[in-house]
Amino acid sequence: MPTTLITGGTVVSATGASAADVLVDGETIRAVLEPGSALLGVDLARSVDRVIDAGGKYVIPGGIDAHTHMELPFGGTAASDTFETGTRAAAWGGTTTIIDFAVQTHGQRVEDGLAAWHDKAAGTCAIDYGFHQIVGDVNEASLAALRGLADEGVSSYKLFMAYPGVFYSDDAQILQAMQVAADTGLMTMMHAENGPAIDVLVRQLLAEGKTDPYFHGVARAWQMEEEATHRAIMLAHLTGAPLYVVHVSAKQAVAQLAAARDRGQNVFGETCPQYLYLSLEEQLGASSEEWGSFEGAKWVCSTPLRSKQEHHQDELWQALRTNDLQMVSTDHCPFCMKDQKELGRGDFSKIPNGIGGVEHRMDLLYQGVVDGRISLERWVEITATTSARMFGLYGRKGVIQPGADADIVVYDPAGRTSIGVGKAHHMNMDHSAWEGFEIDGHVDTVMSRGRVIVDGGEYRGRPGDGSFVKRGLSQYLL
Ligand code: URP
Ligand code: ZN
Ligand code: ZN
Repeated sequence: MPTTLITGGTVVSATGASAADVLVDGETIRAVLEPGSALLGVDLARSVDRVIDAGGKYVIPGGIDAHTHMELPFGGTAASDTFETGTRAAAWGGTTTIIDFAVQTHGQRVEDGLAAWHDKAAGTCAIDYGFHQIVGDVNEASLAALRGLADEGVSSYKLFMAYPGVFYSDDAQILQAMQVAADTGLMTMMHAENGPAIDVLVRQLLAEGKTDPYFHGVARAWQMEEEATHRAIMLAHLTGAPLYVVHVSAKQAVAQLAAARDRGQNVFGETCPQYLYLSLEEQLGASSEEWGSFEGAKWVCSTPLRSKQEHHQDELWQALRTNDLQMVSTDHCPFCMKDQKELGRGDFSKIPNGIGGVEHRMDLLYQGVVDGRISLERWVEITATTSARMFGLYGRKGVIQPGADADIVVYDPAGRTSIGVGKAHHMNMDHSAWEGFEIDGHVDTVMSRGRVIVDGGEYRGRPGDGSFVKRGLSQYLL
């Protein structure tokens, strides 16, 4: 494979930013050099196959989105991005690795669920990918299967305290799974919402004729998230299992995580761009000629968007800055309005849950730098470096250093990105939850294991460029 010199840029890591050139040899980074030093003595510029001019731009490790759901079966349909379309969209947005969720459904073997996900992804992905394992049926066989998961390169699994009758686990099941996790070093990822209580509220709201998408968020009140987060933390404490709470949206859940961390417990939290920028009022105010008030279905996800009046967003940004929250992933789970979200017209509980955003995470978080919410270094840390450390990829991914995979993004801080306007995105969706967002910064060049796959406005990759990456245990184990 060819050699490439990325020259003239500012290399940003989780710990600092400095002018440096990056020499890529085949699939890996060979050296990080003083600016221009590659050109001294040996005329390296003549001996490399390609020079990328990163003058005035940031050179950052490719983003790692540790929470995606390509092709996830949900609510009688399936997420509309395939591994092919979803990973290509991710690449356009500067993400070079995703960690998707393989699913074990009720009555299925964990091993078969994982094998099915390998079948879906193999040979189709634009970028590298790994898997977490959703355990939707905790029983003797799945607990035994959990013990073998790390050997498959799958070092984390997800349980749901929500969605009774679908993915839900009760406390007894959670306790047993966490006991295995404490033993094996698997990271427990938790969807923390009190599903049975939510379902009562859902039934009551529907009986009152409150069927619009907005009421999805009303039923899934912050108390449901705080309570479940606390319960998960307590069960993790009892068992000694490390815990990672996904898609945190309520400031009260953040407070639970922060308090547990202050007590010395090994717990972590992720939030998503939608909770940092969008609010429940999006759904309340939404209406269009085509969809009427059902327009609000575009923003139905769980945990739900929170009300602006409750002031969650500032607290989430602050928690990202202070490390009470450690990472931002997208929870990319796209559904089209037509034929998919519209399954819940007249009954919000039947709207497939999820927002598509795998393409926009790096840009939306860079806007946090521009707005003075987080530093440049923290941007890289919460979108790539910590993701790699948390999920056993660090060294190979999440950092620009000799020997690492050459997953590199050249990012133009002077560029602009128009999100979703006129459906100008690459995700397989007929709308965007981000329609109309105009933000600072732009992904210029994306290199995945040494191959330039996005080059200015051109896509140069192919399905199958990406490979499955076996992950080690989290670096955050005690
Ligand atoms: O609304 C969401 N989050 N859909 C995807 C499934 C999940 O709970 O992560
Ligand atoms: Zn979830
Ligand atoms: Zn999810």
